[in-house]
Amino acid sequence: MSEDSGQIDHVFHERRKFAPPAEFTKRSVVSSQDQYAELCQRATENRDEFWKAEAEEHLHWFEPFDSVCEFNAPDVKWFDGGKTNASYNCLDKHVEEGRGNRTAIIWEGEPGDTRSLTYAELRKEVAKCAEAMLELGVGAGDVVSIYMPMTPELAIAMLGCARIGAVHSVIFAGFSAESIADRNNDAKAKLVITSDGLHRRGKVLPLKETVDEALAKSPTVEKCLVLRRIGNSDTPMTEGRDHWWHDVVDKQQGELHAAPMDSEAPLFILYTSGSTGKPKGILHTTAGYNLWAKRTFQWVFDHREDDIYWCTADCGWITGHSYIVYGPLSAGATCLIYEGAPNFPAENRFWELVEKYRVTILYTAPTAIRAFIKWGDEHVEKHDLSSLRLLGSVGEGINPETWIWYHEKIGGSKCPIVDTWWQTETGGIMMSPLPGITATKPGSCTFPLPGVVPKIVDELGGDVDDQHGGMLCIAQPWPGMLRGIWGDHQRFVQQYWTTVPGMYLTGDNARRDRDGYYWIMGRIDDVINVSGHRLSTIEVESTLVSHDCVCEAAVVGRPHELKGQAISAFVTIKDAEPTEELRQELKQYVRKQIGALAQPDDIRFAESLPKTRSGKIMRRLLRDVASGREVAGDTSTLEDLSVLAKLADEEA
Ligand code: WT7
Repeated sequence: MSEDSGQIDHVFHERRKFAPPAEFTKRSVVSSQDQYAELCQRATENRDEFWKAEAEEHLHWFEPFDSVCEFNAPDVKWFDGGKTNASYNCLDKHVEEGRGNRTAIIWEGEPGDTRSLTYAELRKEVAKCAEAMLELGVGAGDVVSIYMPMTPELAIAMLGCARIGAVHSVIFAGFSAESIADRNNDAKAKLVITSDGLHRRGKVLPLKETVDEALAKSPTVEKCLVLRRIGNSDTPMTEGRDHWWHDVVDKQQGELHAAPMDSEAPLFILYTSGSTGKPKGILHTTAGYNLWAKRTFQWVFDHREDDIYWCTADCGWITGHSYIVYGPLSAGATCLIYEGAPNFPAENRFWELVEKYRVTILYTAPTAIRAFIKWGDEHVEKHDLSSLRLLGSVGEGINPETWIWYHEKIGGSKCPIVDTWWQTETGGIMMSPLPGITATKPGSCTFPLPGVVPKIVDELGGDVDDQHGGMLCIAQPWPGMLRGIWGDHQRFVQQYWTTVPGMYLTGDNARRDRDGYYWIMGRIDDVINVSGHRLSTIEVESTLVSHDCVCEAAVVGRPHELKGQAISAFVTIKDAEPTEELRQELKQYVRKQIGALAQPDDIRFAESLPKTRSGKIMRRLLRDVASGREVAGDTSTLEDLSVLAKLADEEA
């Protein structure tokens, strides 16, 4: 392959295939290939007609919309002229339609305390929170930063904002004071909602102190609302600025109606780290996002009345926004929310929760699954997981061996796995199996959802042989697409709409196999160029992970005089010693499995791999490590790379 073709040399072959269980197909939301084909056809060929009907059926409209989709790349308006409200769609709609007594949220705190809220109760709490925000001077269009533990109040605060048209900006409760201040300032936040602290792995972490440090540098913030979560009596409170949740929220009536909002009114901003520079505030608006979150939830998770659905993400990430709050609640689902760590008090906590609440749908991330594998099967085996019927994966590519373990050990070989590919920017799932109809291949996110038109192109936007792979773009607008980067239109245009004019650039590489299945090959920046062959990191990583002794692997390129780049692999191991012998064995293993070309030039054993707070391997950091110094042949000691992750702070 020539160096400038933009194509990627695909070297990894996964041939296993799993048919959807017949029982599943019979009663699933999308239950035949014909139905799927028809949905796709209508969504692309009669786009406006299709989405008009979807929006009319699935959202509540205070005022009808005039147009369906006005697309003038990169600007787009969905359902313009209409008025709806996401909090209404998530709550009032169910109460009005007689489903107020359904359980909306089942919550368990890390210490084991529990709470459950019906849709009617949740609506009341949300209305109270909204009333309190109005009292604190927040109105439509104002930005509210939310920095909270995974308590019901976090979802209540988000929906409270939506109810009055305030724009929430959830900041993951692991971020530093500096990061909170940056986000407050970029968004010009007026209110911050936080708590006195949170429970994490049996410890109590103060949050308000961190927020105070941030507020000293956040001139736009006028008020701070503080939930008492841990009962920390010496929480610092600034007179006039800070208010306890139990003082201002609890006394409210809880009767406030949802405000009719323009379809394109901002619903939330969510900051995501750019590959370089400061984090970008991804903007999502009301109607299109809400519809996309709801419909993708229903299609992909095949939601049924009696499901107990558990998404293990944090609301600090888009997964929590779309698949803990807006998607499932719009669909009237019963959602389990768990506050704490998966290994507290012990490594079986997740499985204990699945058994206790009879969870039927579990949605988690490959990084968590790889941790479970490392912790050992015994933690899983002592629990009855027979309630599970569907498993989901999100956040990174799932290595086939990890997929197989998830399928067998967690799913009892009977649950379909939906490997969902999407991004903060896409608002919701873009490609995924549909559990009743899609035969899955481990490691492939399979096919696009209705209305999603993927296109694989070279660096100039030209067609490539998609069996090799190239840059993944989306060629048509979809309702959940981002509307911009908060306060930085130019960066929005530059980042997503310039490389390939008229199409949304995802920043990922992908290929399509002969059966039409899509395989995500990692970020564009992660491609390794060895002697003119462009390789995908995930393919080499998946091969390493398929070796019995390897738990996790990260592969990066480092400069090499002759080859352009050499391949450096970092691995964590199980049931093995970090010896030179194992190192050679792993190199030979990759060579044998996928070819000499992909054989790592060096392999380093690591205690753990550096990850972002959302669990993605920081390959950029490892590239620096790999190119910094040559690896001496006899280094067999384990390196603790988590230290590096800490040094790099959250934006790496
Ligand atoms: C990036 C988006 C999607 C919500 C959580 C992460 C990678 C995500 C998959 C998947 C392969 C995946 C991509 C994507 N990614 N899901 N199923 N297979 N890669 O959201 O932080 O915006 O990250 O995560 O590289 O571009 P995000």
